[in-house]
Amino acid sequence: MICVLFLLRLLVFIRPAAEALDNGLALTPTMGWLHWERFMCNIDCDKDPDNCISERLYMQMADMMVKEGWKEAGYEYVCIDDCWPSHQRDARGRLQADPKRFPGGIKKLADYIHSKGLKLGIYADVGKNTCAGYPGSLGHYETDAQTFADWNVDLLKFDGCYMDWTLLGEGYINMSKALNQTGRSILYSCEWPLYEWPFKQPNYTAIRETCNHWRNFNDVYDSWSSIKTILDWTASHQDVIVPSAGSGGWNDPDMLVIGNFGLSHDQQESQMALWAIMAAPLLMSNDLRDICPRSKGLLQNKRIIDISQDPLGRQGYHTIKVDSFEVWERPLSQNRLAVAVLNRQEIGGPRGFVIRAVPGWKICDPQCNVTQILPQYKELGVQTFKSEVVLSVNPSGTALLTITPISRFRTYKLHWQDTSVRHKQETIL
Ligand SMILES: *[C@@H]1O[C@H](CO)[C@@H](O)[C@H](O)[C@H]1NC(C)=O
Ligand SMILES: *[C@@H]1O[C@H](CO)[C@@H](O)[C@H](O)[C@H]1NC(C)=O
Ligand SMILES: *[C@@H]1O[C@H](CO)[C@@H](O)[C@H](O)[C@H]1NC(C)=O
Repeated sequence: MICVLFLLRLLVFIRPAAEALDNGLALTPTMGWLHWERFMCNIDCDKDPDNCISERLYMQMADMMVKEGWKEAGYEYVCIDDCWPSHQRDARGRLQADPKRFPGGIKKLADYIHSKGLKLGIYADVGKNTCAGYPGSLGHYETDAQTFADWNVDLLKFDGCYMDWTLLGEGYINMSKALNQTGRSILYSCEWPLYEWPFKQPNYTAIRETCNHWRNFNDVYDSWSSIKTILDWTASHQDVIVPSAGSGGWNDPDMLVIGNFGLSHDQQESQMALWAIMAAPLLMSNDLRDICPRSKGLLQNKRIIDISQDPLGRQGYHTIKVDSFEVWERPLSQNRLAVAVLNRQEIGGPRGFVIRAVPGWKICDPQCNVTQILPQYKELGVQTFKSEVVLSVNPSGTALLTITPISRFRTYKLHWQDTSVRHKQETIL
């Protein structure tokens, strides 16, 4: 076993400087399901009726979300991505769903989704076409926002294809205003920075004021190499992007691909752990009608979801890379800390990693309580700044911990003459 002397550092990022978009939504990272990575632009309902982009697909996913515990775990939004509309706008210039694949129309689909206690997301594009070539919203922002509001849609994913990059900011801001003007609270998911990065560093103050979350980097694929490039991009840009995240607005590293074909179980655990550390939206793209129990258990793991949804609302960050271990930390409410240790060595077997706090590291001075969540749940008990926590991490797997400081104050009961119970704090030392 390799022992690593390791000093946990608490980087202090300032609270988000900018105000979040004020629509009362995404107070914690959005949770739900989004069709793109798994179902893409499959529009062939004759040959592949079960997997084509049609109202049936979203209704079935909504049914599964209620039946199989997803809704109860916190997954709420059922989201349509590209390829839902007809190639033509209607006579009044409005977008319309493909009549063959959505015979009931979007409004009726929204009613169905709402009847399940869930929310419906839809997709459009800031430019003149969507990425798959359907009509874009450029020049139609007010009309399209009103159409989505009339249909009782709850979320808009607004892509950035076919747009002059110098107008991206204007376009995203105009649509944000148009959504606000409808009077309906519609969660606004942007891709503004993704399309701007090739040309200039995006203004995250403006983005946070405009959007509820925003994609920064490439589409996720169903592969470990894709997950790794997303993590590497995030780590190398964290000084710029982490401070912009907070309640109401989040960096979006794209969908969870857990439950598909490309990731081993250890890699699925790594995606889940790191997406929670990154305070990322948890939008699954998988087939909820056919998902293996282990992947389902991981996606519904309450302890990981609690990290994701922590009320402090701070995004975590990469702290150190040593001996092919990569450590990420996320500050949590009540002075707790989540720590993920990712084994980036893709050869050999499980490797040991030792966490040693150091004197002066407040969270474990004098004592802290350590809970291991991944690879399996284990209470590691009370530690002091002198003790070591030994982890075993599989290749491309992740150990996920929470560390809870044990306060110098102890609460005990004082019995008063009138027998009412009062609590008082007293210094132990
Ligand atoms: C519209 O914006 C105003 C001001 O920012 C905000 O108070 C209001 O809640 C917003 N309305 C909706 C529907 O988002
Ligand atoms: C945004 O709105 C302003 C004000 O109405 C308008 O002048 C501008 O052309 C719009 N930009 C885009 C990209 O729609
Ligand atoms: C970024 O956007 C904010 C708010 O919209 C604005 O006040 C600020 O001047 C912009 N910063 C830069 C460098 O353009």
